[in-house]
Amino acid sequence: MKPFYVTTPIYYVNDRPHIGHAYSTVAVDVFARHARLRGRPTRFLTGLDEHGLKIERRATEVGMSTQAFVDSMVPPFRDAWVDLGCAHDDFIRTTEPRHKAGARALWERLVASGDVYLGDYEDWYCVGCEAFKTEKDLLPGNICPDHKKPVERIKEQSFFFRLSRYTEPLLAYYEAHPEFVQPAGRFNEVKAFVGEGLRDLSISRTSFSWGIPVPGHEQHVMYVWLDALANYLSALGGPSEPGVAPLYDQFWAGDAERVHVVGKDILRFHAIFWPAFLMSAALPLPSRIEAHGWLTVNGEKMSKGLGNFLPPRPLVDAFGADVLRYYLMREIGFGQDGDFSHANLVARYNGELANGLGNLLNRIVASLVRTQFDAKVPPCGPLLDLDTALVAVAERVARDVSAHLAAGAPHRALDAVFELVAAANRYVDQTAPWALAKQGDTARLGTVCYVVLECLRWLSVLLAAFMPTKCAELRAQIGLPPLAPEVGVDHWPSRFGELAPGLATSVGSPLFPRIDKDREAAIRAELGLASDAPAADAKKPAAKKPDGKKPADPTPAADASATPAPAASGGDGLISIDDLVKVKLRLATVLSAERVPKSDKLLKLSVDAGDGSPRQILAGIGLHYAPEALVGRQLVVVANLPPRKMMGLESNGMVLAASDDAGLSVLFVDKSITPGATVK
Ligand code: ME8
Ligand code: MG
Repeated sequence: MKPFYVTTPIYYVNDRPHIGHAYSTVAVDVFARHARLRGRPTRFLTGLDEHGLKIERRATEVGMSTQAFVDSMVPPFRDAWVDLGCAHDDFIRTTEPRHKAGARALWERLVASGDVYLGDYEDWYCVGCEAFKTEKDLLPGNICPDHKKPVERIKEQSFFFRLSRYTEPLLAYYEAHPEFVQPAGRFNEVKAFVGEGLRDLSISRTSFSWGIPVPGHEQHVMYVWLDALANYLSALGGPSEPGVAPLYDQFWAGDAERVHVVGKDILRFHAIFWPAFLMSAALPLPSRIEAHGWLTVNGEKMSKGLGNFLPPRPLVDAFGADVLRYYLMREIGFGQDGDFSHANLVARYNGELANGLGNLLNRIVASLVRTQFDAKVPPCGPLLDLDTALVAVAERVARDVSAHLAAGAPHRALDAVFELVAAANRYVDQTAPWALAKQGDTARLGTVCYVVLECLRWLSVLLAAFMPTKCAELRAQIGLPPLAPEVGVDHWPSRFGELAPGLATSVGSPLFPRIDKDREAAIRAELGLASDAPAADAKKPAAKKPDGKKPADPTPAADASATPAPAASGGDGLISIDDLVKVKLRLATVLSAERVPKSDKLLKLSVDAGDGSPRQILAGIGLHYAPEALVGRQLVVVANLPPRKMMGLESNGMVLAASDDAGLSVLFVDKSITPGATVK
């Protein structure tokens, strides 16, 4: 099995960790845990970037010596990763001697290949980016477009790296390695940038000293990005000759898979500079760079000024580490920008974890197995079609989850997991185990319980990388020990029927107790969310309709939409285009439609919305349309609402329709369009 080396960016210590850093670190932890469960030799590195002008100035601002300042920033980061259940194997600081040695060794390799020369640098520098800029990178008035601050003019002697030499080799490498950067759209931006031709890069500074001295020219310090990128090697004891540093030999020099996870803000450094340095040094390149998107908080850019700088700790206190990890990986498509919203977190928690997974466990373990089988795993009888169909879903989902995680798509992995959760809950509805219990059909009841327990066992592995603690609790409830990953041992489930009958289950406290309105309000108070935050709307008493009836339940969408409007679009009732594109409207073809028993209004639709598998949507249109009249027709659905239960059935979206006093009309389309097409 190929060794797996996976890294986070090393974060600047000028600020404390927030939810954006947490997002990267959790993602890497999920990838690493998955690889360990599959038995691969795995190494997960994170750490801190402690050199450069930005850090030196920040230390001066707070009136500390630079060393004392950087030392003081280590505990907040280390603690944050402990709080979030991240199990890194190593934590590197660029001020450590081992790192300085590695960075200097890399420098010497660049010199040896003739790619370093002394010159005079005269141009602009943005301290926020720690990057050189030319006029065309800047806004009028020499303002950095990322930091919105004036850049500084630099004129000093500097070593240069012959980056220009690597324009062609990089383009050739990209061509030969189409998976080198993900997502593909970002890779295209990189290629386009390199395609314009690269200029040599200034790689040393003489006007300040907080950095790693250049070998042989100690009045120069290395450019902070060259210093920082070297961490991926120095943490392994490299670069070095074979046989000197075993970790380096195993995780870099050999055939390891080497994956850097970074935010899109620093993709160029990783996809252009870093491979060019490595080519020059005649060292292997990373296998893959995963550039994820940018997180906003409740719809706004995170900043101290806006008061929405979100440290992970209070969220962990409120929801628990596993739930926060789950939410981050579930809500945001890896590679896409995304929004952290407290309202969505609660909606997903209640909809997916409490009602979906928690409920499945409770229905079987806490009630049926406990009361009907003395809390022991019952024997499994012959499997009927319904049973083998569910087993087939589990097998497919298990393969998909692992493939998506290996390909850096944790959100897709979770989509697949919830197909299994939904299928298992549907199976419980269809097999009606309580009726079997009443009829005294113990053998069949045992089989049904066994099949669900097996699904729960599989889920306890499939979700373990995301929610390690909750999965250990889940396993304890079905009588299994925690997972103990071991190199060479593949724990991934692939064979149905390995759960031993007779095993004692144990009912613990509910895995995911529902967050009710009171608890939600309490959490919001604990988190100190401003009064105009989503909580406020949730707490407003429901207005009564003139007929005195309570209005229909607010949909989860209504809850989620309580996110405060950004200042630019407040007051006048207008929304920004950014708000609009949050609503994913998709074209869908109705595959089947039927009435929901005991309801006049609700129809249960199965639609093709381009998801790859049918999606169930409940629509309150039964008074206006006969189910058979809908089959084959195309309509518009809201595709990114959290799942919602109605009449015991789950709805995964909303059908658009308009109504007036005369009736209701569904928005069908004018001519046939591919299902899943975006409506905009
Ligand atoms: O760039 N959304 O450090 P940094 C998503 N030291 N991710 C975010 C985020 C947000 N709002 N905010 C931060 C540096 N991140 C260099 C890296 S690596 C050799 C040197 C995450 O402290 C994301 O991973 O500015 C981003 O790339 C990183 O933090 C930037 O961290
Ligand atoms: Mg930054």
